[in-house]
Amino acid sequence: MILILDFGSQYTQLIARRLRELNVYCEIHPWNKVPEYGEEVKGVILSGSPFSVRDEKAPRPDLSEIKGKLPLLGVCFGAQYMAHNFGGEVLPSSTREYGRANLSFVDQSHVLMQNVSHGSQVWMSHGDTIKILPDNFKVIASTKDVQVAAYYVEGEETYGIQFHPEVYHSLEGMEMLRNFVKDICGCKMDWTPQSFVEETVAELKEKLGDDKVILGLSGGVDSSVAAMLLHKAIGANLHCIFVDNGLLRKNEFQDVLESYKGMGLNVKGVDASSDFYSALSGVTDPEAKRKAIGKVFVDVFDEESKKVKDAKWLGQGTIYPDVIESVSVSGGPSATIKSHHNVGGLPDYMQLKVVEPLRLLFKDEVRRVGSTLNIPANILGRHPFPGPGLGIRILGEVTAEKVRILQEVDAIFINGLKEDGLYDDVWQAGAILLPVQSVGVMGDERTYENAVALRAVTSTDGMTADWCHLPYDFLSKISNKIINQVKGINRVTYDISSKPPATIEWE
Ligand code: XMP
Repeated sequence: MILILDFGSQYTQLIARRLRELNVYCEIHPWNKVPEYGEEVKGVILSGSPFSVRDEKAPRPDLSEIKGKLPLLGVCFGAQYMAHNFGGEVLPSSTREYGRANLSFVDQSHVLMQNVSHGSQVWMSHGDTIKILPDNFKVIASTKDVQVAAYYVEGEETYGIQFHPEVYHSLEGMEMLRNFVKDICGCKMDWTPQSFVEETVAELKEKLGDDKVILGLSGGVDSSVAAMLLHKAIGANLHCIFVDNGLLRKNEFQDVLESYKGMGLNVKGVDASSDFYSALSGVTDPEAKRKAIGKVFVDVFDEESKKVKDAKWLGQGTIYPDVIESVSVSGGPSATIKSHHNVGGLPDYMQLKVVEPLRLLFKDEVRRVGSTLNIPANILGRHPFPGPGLGIRILGEVTAEKVRILQEVDAIFINGLKEDGLYDDVWQAGAILLPVQSVGVMGDERTYENAVALRAVTSTDGMTADWCHLPYDFLSKISNKIINQVKGINRVTYDISSKPPATIEWE
């Protein structure tokens, strides 16, 4: 295992993803909250940071238990910190170094730089530069402007890289990371989705024994993969509950329930639509709607859970980006934790212990694990869909009739994307029912009906997003179909806002 100490760089997660791509297991921890580890740690990586090593508030980790004892690689800030801390000098660059550069010197005989070409393109992103190295630090790569682009420490397995080997624009960055984990740290590189499944199932068997586990399925990728892992470990002792909140896509409840049953899951479908519609009656404020939906969910889930006698555990599909403690940039080295509850938070009195089999995986890894578990592609490849569902895509009050109309519109749009091979190019898509009526003409008659907006975005994590440049012909076809087939809609618009400043959902 490789330990990555995070100093708040925007690229820290990318380092972890690259190592996972090399089939090496790694964990990210804030530099000031490192858990105790034993021999499983084969090496340590120090990330970059928004701080300069010369800032008063800059992180100052104590490396005495690591440096010289374990293989150690500092990236950007990590490299500068070691140079600065052990007798060298780091100063502001005369020219700030951002973007592409090429290695004008590479010591290919050095293990970290084996198979790295002369002239190799690397990605720089730093405002400081290492001017003087401590005596026992030796340069192994340079660019035209940055003499110390990479170094090693004599007599130790300690290395520094000034650029970012983890970003795609560092074209041979993966070679350097591979050299570090394979030849320097001696990692076996055998961490694959298949090995993850085997190890996790064995651990779950051990941990859960004959205990019963309850899990709320949502139809999404994470809860489905978590359920299959638990199912492999404990079979019928896993009790899944899939709640129809009346705010799902057209036919989704029945279709997904069938898929789950086909996967062998012990799943109970609960149609609670009318409870949700009653709770939403007269509610127009977006946050109030979310709260109302969340509360009914908890009540229904609680009621159903009680029917499973002696359940001890609550299974959740929490994934790694939700649990990584990120080093907060503005507040100095304090840490903020994103918490995540797929089931919207459960009352304390339920007193279930939580089991989260995916808490160490990134989203793409969840998909890879899912495909080794033979989960159907229609579940694995599905776009993200918000917990409150169509409830936050119907602006204003939600009624069963509005849900029905929006489901029709959404189905035409989503099926159209699938039929035209566009679905997988889009990160998320859906339709929004606007509280706007406008005049139209159909046949010889004047109409006064609702408008809908279509939204399709590209994104990697939903934090930022751009509107998708769907072909005009496709939009034209879908717009005609919607207006002709969905009674009550006479106008279709396409949302061309990016996030930020807009958001993906309208509420
Ligand atoms: P926004 O609208 O904030 O959405 O740009 C980002 C991503 O989060 C989803 N989303 C939600 N998911 N409960 C959820 O489970 C919610 O209340 C919620 N609000 C937004 C949204 O669909 C997008 O993928």
